[in-house]
Amino acid sequence: MSKIKIYGGKYLSGTVKIHGSKNACLPIMCASLLNKGKATIGNVPKIADVYNLLNIFSYLNVSYIFVDDFLVIDSSKLIYKDLLIDEVLKFRASYYLIGVFLALFGKCKIYYPGGCKLGERPLDYHFEAFKAMGYNVNCNENLIEIDGKLKNEHINITLKGNSVGATINTVFAAIFSNATIYNYSLEPEVIDTLDFLGKLGFKIIKNRSIEIFASIPKRSVKYKIIPDRIEALTYIIMALLCGNIKLENVNLLHIDYPIRTLILNNADIIMYKNVLCCNKSKVVPFSFDADLYPKIPTDAQPLFSILFLFNNGSAIIGDKVFKNRFSAPLELVHLGARINTMDNKIITNHSVFVSGSVKASDLRACAALFLFAIASPTNTIINNYEIIERGYADFLRNLKNLGVKYEIIE
Ligand code: EPZ
Repeated sequence: MSKIKIYGGKYLSGTVKIHGSKNACLPIMCASLLNKGKATIGNVPKIADVYNLLNIFSYLNVSYIFVDDFLVIDSSKLIYKDLLIDEVLKFRASYYLIGVFLALFGKCKIYYPGGCKLGERPLDYHFEAFKAMGYNVNCNENLIEIDGKLKNEHINITLKGNSVGATINTVFAAIFSNATIYNYSLEPEVIDTLDFLGKLGFKIIKNRSIEIFASIPKRSVKYKIIPDRIEALTYIIMALLCGNIKLENVNLLHIDYPIRTLILNNADIIMYKNVLCCNKSKVVPFSFDADLYPKIPTDAQPLFSILFLFNNGSAIIGDKVFKNRFSAPLELVHLGARINTMDNKIITNHSVFVSGSVKASDLRACAALFLFAIASPTNTIINNYEIIERGYADFLRNLKNLGVKYEIIE
């Protein structure tokens, strides 16, 4: 197991450039296969999930090359293969290949995708949508097999619940048809994927529903991915805990609600165009439920929990998306975190910590544990720290430049 030791409590200072959004990049890379041509994608974060997806692309005869900040994907020689390879198990977004394969080949056989364990993560919304299109879905806990025939008529689908993945997968599967999709997710990563498809030449109108008009894509496309709002919130909270950090390449609109809520609660944050300056502050903890966009995102909820543990006051925190996503703050109880739990919520209180070791269980929990270890004037060993590389490009390099003292133990 990988281990890193953080010597916490240092004052941090410096500039961080926010990378492209992981959760927009992965579906956009998958969407780039739909034209069986060339896509040049800018702002691609060099993270493990991107490389895992590229390994799957190689297996499918899709070639790629990085040119500076751009990833050029050539899918002209894409072939169908069953997706029974280990890479599928390494991250959640491999499931976007189901929608793409249904659109291109009318079938897909794939291992049940892996990814962060955040409690139950069923795929029933996806499967119901595929069935409504005319497909047969057979699935067990290891394998998904979909085949059948796409309906030859206008397709109407109402998604069973609000889901980023189900929205994007349904759009992909229906992309060569005339279709209307209701109850779709409005997260910025979904909108970015729809915008990419539009740039690729597909006719899509988003209103109260998503309307897809059967069309033929262009042979090539150039597109730049939106900045990662969760990466931005991670460094903002790091600054509020530990020093002053200037963030570049931020889309302020995508984090407007969380930022304004922080400012209302005493956070020293100054915004200008796509730059944000953030200073160490005594933030007043506030109660909230992580929720759909534009509210505080579930992926940032563990980060806010850590912020509150270092500040005077109590807050009740819930999560309407993943109801029990509290592994990071609860992992700190043995080091001194004063947390009470009640009915799928936690109550955070100002805490004083001792040195010790913790274990990261998923990507955002890992980011939260890094925030803790950097802020606490103690020494912390984080086990499994390499999970961070799944979603944060240049993370350790940024920490070093900001003044964090750490040592990789193994
Ligand atoms: C995406 O996951 C993100 N992952 C997650 O980020 C993020 O936490 C989540 O959206 C919510 O914003 C990627 O984009 C790769 P959902 P996704 O379908 O699409 C339930 C990270 O750390 N649901 O929007 O899998 C589900 O259990 C990751 O970057 C069903 O019940 O999430 C959850 O409670 C972690 N059935 C809720 O809906 C389904 O078929 C929302 O999940 C689908 C979802």
